[in-house]
Amino acid sequence: MKEINVKEANGKLGVLVVGVGGAVASTFIVGTLAVRKGLAQPIGSITQLATMRLGKRNENRFPKIKDVVPLAKLDDIVFGGWDIFEEDVYEAAKNAEVLLPKDLDGVKDELQAIKPMKAAFDQNFVKRLHGTWVKEAATRWDLVQQLREDIRNFKTKNNCDRLVVIWCASTEVYLPMGEVHKDLAKLEQAMKENSCEIAPSMCYAYAAIAEGVPFINGAPALTVDMPAMWQLAEKMNVPICGKDFKTGQTMMKTVLSPMLKTRMLGLNGWFSTNILGNRDGEVLDDPDSFKTKEVSKLSVIDTILQPDLYPELYGNIYHKVRINYYPPRKDNKEGWDNIDIFGWMGYPMQLKVDFLCRDSILAAPLCLDLVLLTDLAARCGFSGIQSWLSFYFKSPMHDFETVPEHDLFIQYVKLKNTLRKIIGEETLDYID
Ligand SMILES: NC(=O)c1ccc[n+]([C@@H]2O[C@H](COP(=O)([O-])OP(=O)(O)OC[C@H]3O[C@@H](n4cnc5c(N)ncnc54)[C@H](O)[C@@H]3O)[C@@H](O)[C@H]2O)c1
Repeated sequence: MKEINVKEANGKLGVLVVGVGGAVASTFIVGTLAVRKGLAQPIGSITQLATMRLGKRNENRFPKIKDVVPLAKLDDIVFGGWDIFEEDVYEAAKNAEVLLPKDLDGVKDELQAIKPMKAAFDQNFVKRLHGTWVKEAATRWDLVQQLREDIRNFKTKNNCDRLVVIWCASTEVYLPMGEVHKDLAKLEQAMKENSCEIAPSMCYAYAAIAEGVPFINGAPALTVDMPAMWQLAEKMNVPICGKDFKTGQTMMKTVLSPMLKTRMLGLNGWFSTNILGNRDGEVLDDPDSFKTKEVSKLSVIDTILQPDLYPELYGNIYHKVRINYYPPRKDNKEGWDNIDIFGWMGYPMQLKVDFLCRDSILAAPLCLDLVLLTDLAARCGFSGIQSWLSFYFKSPMHDFETVPEHDLFIQYVKLKNTLRKIIGEETLDYID
């Protein structure tokens, strides 16, 4: 097995969150600070809670991942970020109403110290929001330079050894991949010409990678998922990953679809709808932002069920996804799935899922894991798309030659086996 040289996680890890005043970002930050003070448990985080079998079964070795994989310590994390609103993270978390005041108070001073930097924003890309804390720049290229300066200043001011940038900001309107996104020189030219094909999220991604900082995309937009950015990431030797955190309904889909397929049960239709009342729900109420999300959510079933191989089972699936903005529920989403399946001799059956979840509570641990694992990837010298992190994403990034893996448990095996390889252990071909 090829040995991987991992640089030690010495010094501070700066975590720069785009959309630092949002529900997901503030829930992630509050939780991480509370966990490191011993005030909360990191439920849902693989890096903090999961074990990993090492060696032969009869050796009975099941250490916690965090005890054997050289991850950055939570104590070494310093938070910062950008938002289009000026409020500090304490105010933002209060307004998001995900967490109770008692859970914010234990880390109030730390939260108040996190003040957003001015955002790179263009309302044409998030129509429902009116930003008041935004940068002025003549072109997208100038915006990139300002963001690069923010990154450098943050690193120096906070004495960070390494940084990671994670996109937890609003979903931008749908932008299909065009010619300018397929080549690095063309992308840079388009930024200089202030082309409308350059979304603000691309400016953050470019700035991070150009500064040698890994970039994680938690939303479904193109952002870093294009050949031009893959090229930049390879050139700068920087890991990138995305896109769209896999939290509620899609997580269920990537568990239930493999179940149907392994039992050779057929599927006629899958109707998913949900009600959501937070700011994300409001943004997704705009049809152009919803389109970005819809594309991300729809790709899952076909890739898992392989209708080409099983036309009699999956050749004619009606798949519909709806998101409805419903303010009374705030962050506490309710998602319904109606799944029309069929069995022996074609007899129809139905499955109904009613998932009363909390969007940001499900997303926060993914943010923590992704930040720690992407930093690890950088210290291992990995660059470009990190497909071993597909476990965390609805629409895992992949190049044109690779088929993405959506099955949650296959993704899990791949994640753990990469960790085993990093620490020089034998891989397993099943779930432990
Ligand atoms: N919560 C989940 O389960 C989940 C799952 C998958 C993806 N996501 C995605 O994560 C993102 C965050 O979700 P949320 O519920 O926290 O939304 P939110 O609306 O509460 O937070 C988004 C934040 O981004 C800020 N923002 C918008 N454009 C910006 C820009 N250009 N620069 C800097 N800040 C900007 C907004 O002001 C806001 O504070 C969304 O794109 C959402 O679709 C969430």
